[in-house]
Formats: sequence, structure tokens, C-alpha cells
Amino acid sequence: MQQEIRIGIVTVSDRASRGEYEDLGGPAIREWFERALASPWQPVSRMIPDEQVEIEKLLAELADKDGCCLIVTTGGTGPAKRDVTPEATAAVCDKLLDGFGEQMRAVSLQYVPTAILSRQIAGIRGSALIINLPGKPSAIAECLDAVFPAVPYCIDLIDGPYIETHDEVVKAFRPKHAVKKQ
Ligand code: MTE
Repeated sequence: MQQEIRIGIVTVSDRASRGEYEDLGGPAIREWFERALASPWQPVSRMIPDEQVEIEKLLAELADKDGCCLIVTTGGTGPAKRDVTPEATAAVCDKLLDGFGEQMRAVSLQYVPTAILSRQIAGIRGSALIINLPGKPSAIAECLDAVFPAVPYCIDLIDGPYIETHDEVVKAFRPKHAVKKQ
């Protein structure tokens, strides 16, 4: 039987978690997946302040207990004192995938020169891929469009569920020898 596809969507923001402003990032991520994924999936949405220990705990819980194969964070990747999302991500990951940060920054630089300020990373914890996105809602599609073609195969490689996309939104790339899981 096909494993369930659960995707963690984490908004990291002091102000949004205090209710001082509306969370636009979390809904933008959810909307992107609604457009892009052909497979049935479930969002697991969370909001958290910029506190490293709390973020680490939440990421570990989404991966280990909630069974998310993919966790996407938004916010807290910049140089400001409270920005600690990449540190929390690195602390809970077994392996880092440097190409994700490199590619997201390279593509983002075509939109804004301040893309260089994002320290966003990605990595693997167990059978979950964790990807950091900047907090700006417009950055969400800019970054996911750039890296998502490699995400379904990455999740195959860590024994996660088989993810299919709508090719007209984003085309998943799998090497020819890759086996389609039932
Ligand atoms: N990347 C994209 N694609 N689009 C953006 O507007 N904003 C940049 C950068 N990356 C941006 C972007 C800015 S202004 C900052 S400060 C950093 O992301 C970090 O943002 P964060 O601290 O909200 O994560």
C-alpha cells in the first residue's frame, strides 16, 4: 500500500506566533503544494517563535512522530540576531544537502540582490527531508520551483512515499533506472 504523504509546514516567526501579524508564508506553501502535487497528501501546519531549541524539538517531532516525509520551513534564515532556523535544522539533521541552499540562493538572486542574505539549508533526518525557505511569501514559489524537481527522487532514496507531481507545474526528475513504488 502507498505510504501516506504528510508534509510539515512550519512558519518560524516571533511576530506571527504572537498573533501580531497574519501568517502568509504557511498558507503560501500549502497553496504551492496544492497546485504542484498529483499524489494525495496531508499538510501538518505549525507556527513557532524564533527559538532554536523549540524549532529543533518541533522539526524532530514532525519527522519522528508525525511521519512527515518532507518538512518545509519559512522564515528565520537571515542574518538578524533572532534568525536561527538553519542552526536548528542543522542540529537535527543526519546529513546536509548543500545543493539545495546553493540552488535556491542562485535562483533567488535573479529576483532580489538580498537573496544573498538567506542562510537557508536542507538536510535529512531519518526518512524526512527538511528544507528552509525565506520568510517572504514571494520567495516560496521562487525557491520551491527551483529545487522541487529533485525532491521526489530524494524522498525515494530515504525510503519515503512515492510522490507524483503535475508536470505543467513542476516536473519531478527521476533517473531512468528509478523504480516506481506501488
Ligand atoms: N529569496 C527570494 N527568492 N525572494 C526574496 O524576496 N528575500 C531575502 C532573502 N531571500 C528573498 C529571498 C531577504 S530580504 C532576506 S533578509 C533573507 O532571504 C532572509 O529572510 P528570512 O530571515 O525571512 O528567512
